[in-house]
Amino acid sequence: MQSRYEDPTFDQRSTPLPRFGGATFALRFRIMQLVWRITWTLLASWTPPPFRRWRNFLLCCFGAQLDPTAIISASVKIWWPGHLVMGKHTSLGPGAICYNVATVTLKDFSIVSQRAHLCTGSHDIQDSQFPLISRPIVIEPNAWIAAEAFVGPGVVVGEGAVLGARGVAAKSLQPWTIYVGNPAKAVGKRNQSAAASYALVS
Ligand SMILES: CC(C)(COP(=O)(O)OP(=O)(O)OC[C@H]1O[C@@H](n2cnc3c(N)ncnc32)[C@H](O)[C@@H]1OP(=O)(O)O)[C@@H](O)C(=O)NCCC(=O)NCCS
Repeated sequence: MQSRYEDPTFDQRSTPLPRFGGATFALRFRIMQLVWRITWTLLASWTPPPFRRWRNFLLCCFGAQLDPTAIISASVKIWWPGHLVMGKHTSLGPGAICYNVATVTLKDFSIVSQRAHLCTGSHDIQDSQFPLISRPIVIEPNAWIAAEAFVGPGVVVGEGAVLGARGVAAKSLQPWTIYVGNPAKAVGKRNQSAAASYALVS
């Protein structure tokens, strides 16, 4: 777990299309992804909050690296579990979208609130083939992505940083700083004593 967890450039790649309109991903992967989507829809998407260990089990079966204390709502949309890493006491809230064509890492005590969007993918708009570009997202410990906020490809959300409701982060966010708006602008500093403590939760 450690190497992927610590390396934000893990699986950073661009995926050129063979020709315009061609498939970006290999057929084998697309079938696996279809199986994943069916599995989540049938076995997890309707489950109540206390079933979180069951949901974590399903995600881990498809390659997610989850600490047992990670909380993932039934209504989240996860593109591919194999690109999801979540540390201790992390959470992905109701309706959150995790478009993880590259790895999304939530480090210990980080929170992603309802309907937030973690988007690791974009397209090369200067290339006639419009190829997919993907870059990992890293959310450092104790950071909070508030409701309906958007985090773009390659963004590192610094330790303890806050992205306010409906904020849009296209660039990395500094630690212990509060950001709001589109594009996200720093509006204040967060007190580091707000950091969650392992002693309090274990
Ligand atoms: C970002 C946030 C934590 C800031 O809280 P705060 O430090 O108490 O900040 P304040 O309420 O004092 O606001 C500071 C300034 O930022 C503005 N602001 C606050 N949140 C904002 C937001 N999401 N978008 C745009 N502007 C915002 C305020 O209007 C205020 O502007 P002003 O200085 O011109 O008056 C909070 O506003 C927020 O977005 N919370 C998320 C709510 C949420 O997602 N809830 C769901 C999960 S429970």
